[in-house]
Order: sequence, then structure tokens, then C-alpha cells
Amino acid sequence: MCYHRGMKITFFDAKDYDIPAFERYGKEYGISFKFFETKLGEDTAELARGYDGVCVFVNDDVGAPVVEKLASYGVRTVALRCAGYNNVDLTSCFGKIHVVRVPAYSPHAVAEHAMALLLTSVRRIHRAYNRTKDFNFSLAGLTGFELHGRTVGVVGTGKIGRAFIEICRGFGMRVIAYDKFPSEIEGVTYVPLEELLRTSDVISLHCPLTEETYHLIGREAVEMLKKGVVILNTSRGALIDAEALVDGIKRRIVGAACLDVYEEESDLFFRDFSGHIVEDDVLARLISMPNVLVTGHQAFLTEEALANIAETTVKNLVSVRDGGLIENELCYRCGKVEDCKKNRSERCF
Ligand code: NAI
Repeated sequence: MCYHRGMKITFFDAKDYDIPAFERYGKEYGISFKFFETKLGEDTAELARGYDGVCVFVNDDVGAPVVEKLASYGVRTVALRCAGYNNVDLTSCFGKIHVVRVPAYSPHAVAEHAMALLLTSVRRIHRAYNRTKDFNFSLAGLTGFELHGRTVGVVGTGKIGRAFIEICRGFGMRVIAYDKFPSEIEGVTYVPLEELLRTSDVISLHCPLTEETYHLIGREAVEMLKKGVVILNTSRGALIDAEALVDGIKRRIVGAACLDVYEEESDLFFRDFSGHIVEDDVLARLISMPNVLVTGHQAFLTEEALANIAETTVKNLVSVRDGGLIENELCYRCGKVEDCKKNRSERCF
């Protein structure tokens, strides 16, 4: 039985919190990981030479030039330890490298983080926290507003969007939604995107980043927004044109923004820049605003999600290694990256 046949994987962008679960599940299934702090890119792809696969995260670069290099080094698998795959050139991978991902590790982790940001923002908890640390118990400027009865517009009603909707309904919010592929969800009314932008008190983005959704909240959209709207983005940074957002906040159209992701995050997030001068003026401006909350792509970071991510990734690698259909494979053969598995009974190539 090939169950314990070894498989060697280069693990890029490794963080201390990743390692224990990957070592544990790797040992169980005969997969060994070599952990590197560096991200995958054209300059670092060489580290994967002689390995069976690479394990990557959201800000690793798996574009066409990197794929060509990996393939020439004998790498046959890219294992994404995340759901989104906008950083992978799937077309270049087809026929050479299997791409697997973790489609859902804990939608609740992200949905709960979105609500945590929203509550923090609308009840000014971030400001109160800093004040009371300094024994300043003044309430000046801390007036919030209630979510109950407000309209939340959810863009993207997949796994995370639905989990977020459930939470919002628990708060007594009216839920409207926009999705390219709407489905039936109790208590949710689908509306065109423009109507959602014009009528929501809170907008939460849970769709993937694609060519269509790039800068979904851009200059034009900002002009349509309801005055005082709170914008939440726990999906991908480039769904929002950050400069247009800054402008919308300065013009008092956008009342608050809560961002777990940022368009230019790849050179900044997941690292400690305290004590450094950050060059990104747009991010610096956003962070300086009292009505903007930024977390550094942290929404997924729960004990439950980390264990699920490691277990699913290791099982994905095992299924590539052991033959047959690869459940969580992403491929470009028929152009329907996620749906094509419904129509196939064996691996794509
Ligand atoms: P999902 O695939 O279950 O749902 C995505 C939804 O977006 C689907 O209902 C789909 O029909 C819809 N959609 C696709 N194209 C659209 C378009 N052009 N306009 C409107 N809706 C569209 O994905 P899931 O698991 O809910 O994740 C959503 C996103 O959350 C991921 O793409 C990923 O970028 C992000 N994410 C962020 C994390 C974080 O730590 N901040 C962690 C995990 C995911």
C-alpha cells in the first residue's frame, strides 16, 4: 500500500502558528515539509528544486514565470493552504502541475471576524480600549449606532457570506445580497449591485477577486453609496480601490471602513514593521483615520481553522500522491475552475 510513501513539500511563507499542525498531520500521512519564511516568487522558486510540491499561501506568487520554473524543477503540485487562488496562474499549471486548495476551513472564522470588526467600529470599542488603558473614562466622541433594524448588503453569498448573514440576522438586521449566482437563502432578498450600494447601511464583501470583481468598490461605486455606510472587506484587498475609499471617507460619504485585506498587502502583511517608516501612503492614511480599522489578514486565524487547513492540505497532497480523483483540485481544462469537478470522475490530467 502506498499510504506512507514519502512526499517532500517546500512550505513557503511559513509562520510559527502554521508549523505544529502541518508537522502533526504530515507525520501521520507520510508528507514531510521543509519550512521557509520567505515567500514563493521568481527569486525563491529555486528552493523547490527536487521537491514534489510546494505549499503556498495568499501572497505567494504562483504566476506564469514561477509555474514554468517549478515545472522545470520537477515540482508536480501546488498546494494552496487557503481558499482564494487569484495568485495562481491556473492556465500555466494545466497539464504540468496539479493545484489543490482548501475550499472551506472555517467560514465561521472569517464571518465572526467580520462581525467583530463591525461591532468594534460601530460601538467605537477600539477608541474606548485605548482610552481606558490610560484611565480616561470620558465618553466624548464614542456615540455609536445600533445594528438592529439596519440594512446590511452582502456581496457574495457563498460559505462565508452565508455564515455572516446568519450572524447579521441574529442581530435583527435586514439582509439584502448580490451574487453573480444567486441562490435561495431564508430571509435574504437578492438585489442588483447598484441597489445594494445605494441602500445598505453596512456592506460586507465575500465574493472572490476576479477580473469582474476587481475594484468593485471604486470611484463610481463610492458615488452611489448611502451616506455614512460602513464597508467591511474580509475577502481580497483589490475588491476595493483604496484611493477611492480614502476619498470617500474624506468626503464623509463612507462612515467607516473595516479592512482585513488590502490591495497592496503582499509586501506588508504578516510581518512586523513597527519602528519602520511604511512607504505606502494610502495605507498610512487609512490607518491614521479614527473610523478605519485594519487587521492584517487575520480573519482566518482561529485554532479550528488552522487545524482544518493543515488536515485538508495534507489530505489533498495524499490524494495527488495516491492517484484517482483529486477532490479539491483546481484546473482550467473546461474553464469552469471550481465546478468542473462535478462532471469528472478522474483527475484532470
Ligand atoms: P465561496 O466560493 O463559497 O463563495 C463566493 C461567492 O461569491 C459565491 O456565492 C459566488 O457565486 C460569488 N461570486 C462569484 N463571482 C461573483 C461576482 N462577480 N459578483 C458577486 N458574487 C460573486 O467562497 P467563500 O469560502 O465564501 O470565500 C469568499 C472569499 O473570502 C474568498 O474568495 C477569499 O478571497 C476570501 N477569504 C478571506 C479570508 C481571510 O482570512 N480574510 C479567509 C478565507 C477566504
